[in-house]
Amino acid sequence: MLTLVTGSTGSVGRRFVPRLLRQASPGDRVRVLVRDESGAAAVAGLGAQVVVGDLRDTEALGKALAGVDAVVNIAAAFRDVPDEEAWAVNRDAALELGRASVASGVRRFVQVSTNLVYGTGRGRPLTEDDPVVPGGAMWGAYPESKAAAERGLLALDGGLDVRVARLAFVYGEGDPHLARSMRWAGHWAATQRLHMVHHADVAQGLRRLLYAPGAGGGIHNIADDSPVTAVDLHRLNGVDIPAALYERTDPDPWLGIVSTARVRRELGFRPLYPSVWTAQDAGAL
Ligand SMILES: NC(=O)c1ccc[n+]([C@@H]2O[C@H](COP(=O)([O-])OP(=O)(O)OC[C@H]3O[C@@H](n4cnc5c(N)ncnc54)[C@H](OP(=O)(O)O)[C@@H]3O)[C@@H](O)[C@H]2O)c1
Repeated sequence: MLTLVTGSTGSVGRRFVPRLLRQASPGDRVRVLVRDESGAAAVAGLGAQVVVGDLRDTEALGKALAGVDAVVNIAAAFRDVPDEEAWAVNRDAALELGRASVASGVRRFVQVSTNLVYGTGRGRPLTEDDPVVPGGAMWGAYPESKAAAERGLLALDGGLDVRVARLAFVYGEGDPHLARSMRWAGHWAATQRLHMVHHADVAQGLRRLLYAPGAGGGIHNIADDSPVTAVDLHRLNGVDIPAALYERTDPDPWLGIVSTARVRRELGFRPLYPSVWTAQDAGAL
């Protein structure tokens, strides 16, 4: 099986692709699509094929997809980019990649998405059957464009087996993302929560989605077992807890808090790091 992975130079991809390569069965090969070849040196050293091109370039997609059996679309534009770029990469290019995959005979397509697509909270953990309800503090071009991509990919005709992974907030292995959570957590109420998932468990979830024989057409939340509070985030980041945190009220206590019952039941997912505290104890932050 030849798998094309996009976004291999980003914080998720650069930790996922080496695992995919190291844990590959005989005959499994990996190709990455990168904008800058130098960013692929490490995975090329581990045996990945490298195609250089932009996800928005249809010619590059054709080259990247030649002979491919499965796609893992991790690439996304959401860090300090204009809204137009978020829509162009997260929705338009993802859909074009899906259509090109159908045309070139790809069988399986894992679309990496986000728990932010749910929009507002529902007063309980969010399940994959919950509809998108736009709104909430984190709503904007990023979750909107990711939600549109999910819809479009799942609606594609042509027999492509599309599997959507909705990731919680990803952390671990030196990723500065945990420290960046303070951009919001410093303005939250003390009890406001963030659902997270460690990079090792993102990789576990994506591999399970990629290889599971019968998970067709499914959406799966991928998260750990223990959302953390704003107070926890201050402690984890070694930041003093401002008194103002205790004066605020959480406007939506279930925002982004997801159920992982489906991925556990259907794919056997069990987080290696069920909480950020386990990861901290293991020296895996
Ligand atoms: N990190 C999280 O907490 C989190 C949470 C939920 C979901 N996710 C999802 O996980 C995925 C990866 O996120 P991340 O945190 O790894 O993001 P990231 O660090 O910003 O990486 C984005 C990746 O996408 C690539 N990319 C962007 N625009 C591209 C284009 N036009 N053509 C080709 N490649 C392009 C980037 O390549 P360059 O190196 O060339 O820029 C990079 O490899 C995304 O789909 C995101 O929605 C992440």
